[in-house]
Amino acid sequence: MSEQDIQSLKSSLLEWYDRHRRVMPWRAEAGMRPDPYAVWLSEIMLQQTTVVTVGPYFRDFIARWPTVSDLAAADLDAVLHAWAGLGYYARARNLHKCAQAVAAEHDGVFPDTKEALAKLPGIGAYTSSAIASIAFDRAVVPVDGNVERVLSRLRRIETPLPLSKDLIKAEADRFAACNRSGGHRSGDFAQALMDLGATVCTPKKPKCLTCPWRASCSARIAGIAETLPAKMPKKEKPTRRAVAFWAVGPNGEVLLRRRPEKGLLGGMMEIPSSDWMEGPLDREAALAKAPVTPKSDWEELPGIVRHTFTHFHFEITVMAARTPRASWAGVWVPVDRLDEHALPTVMKKIVRHALSRAGRKAA
Ligand code: ADE
Repeated sequence: MSEQDIQSLKSSLLEWYDRHRRVMPWRAEAGMRPDPYAVWLSEIMLQQTTVVTVGPYFRDFIARWPTVSDLAAADLDAVLHAWAGLGYYARARNLHKCAQAVAAEHDGVFPDTKEALAKLPGIGAYTSSAIASIAFDRAVVPVDGNVERVLSRLRRIETPLPLSKDLIKAEADRFAACNRSGGHRSGDFAQALMDLGATVCTPKKPKCLTCPWRASCSARIAGIAETLPAKMPKKEKPTRRAVAFWAVGPNGEVLLRRRPEKGLLGGMMEIPSSDWMEGPLDREAALAKAPVTPKSDWEELPGIVRHTFTHFHFEITVMAARTPRASWAGVWVPVDRLDEHALPTVMKKIVRHALSRAGRKAA
């Protein structure tokens, strides 16, 4: 593709965007610069889930914490609570840390280059490019899954992902270079690529007939658009198993514990559990990890709780018992106040399972 081809692709995509851009709560109106705080917040939220799911969370965050300095001053637990349902709490912690860094080190103003943005907590290669282009019109092209799909089709890159990442990035950089020389609308171009990927150049049944790039798309011309991007075969996820301890105190209260800061669900509240191990469940070893000693024995509740994380399946056997209320073991919470704690989804499943089988008294 010549420089001129790239310029002309850029123009046709921007024209398409001017007619078909999606309305989103964090997007500025045509021709207006968006608020960098809104762009950053939406990008962090969108790393986990879809535009539709993010909408209400985004509005809630902006209503409660209208500026990055308000978010920096917020209580971490309140932020984690508001985040519940968006997954990966490490992102919410980094979100809070990042807000604090912007407030303390940048006077509450987001830096306006990719390089400076990438130094902030929780902002990686994609997010720094997205914010630099969308909020500050910097000449970079962020590459997310949508953009990978569009560019591997346009350029008929048949090498499977993730091996093709560098090739795709090189194509994106050619557009970025053209944005530099052409001068403008980097933010719109980035969002146009994302919108094209989400609405036209879709994973299944791409709507090539309505695509502004149809005449130049090498994969469409070869009739293989839907097969790209190719992916390496997925590895089977392993299964980890553990026992969760449903410890019920003298007044029917339940034991919760805070997980270590580092690692999966870091710092979140949990129903205390044994180590999460691959292989068959070793009940004996698991019981040795009980957080309190019950009055009689732990009783296994029928059934298994299942949950799938990104890298593994998780199967939890729940053991219930009446126990003394040992203060060192964690926090004792009345059953009807469990939802005041930001429990991760897997822990909510354990609670539901325990309540349906053991009720408020331990088995
Ligand atoms: N996905 C991530 N960021 C986006 C944005 N700004 N517009 C559309 N889709 C997106």
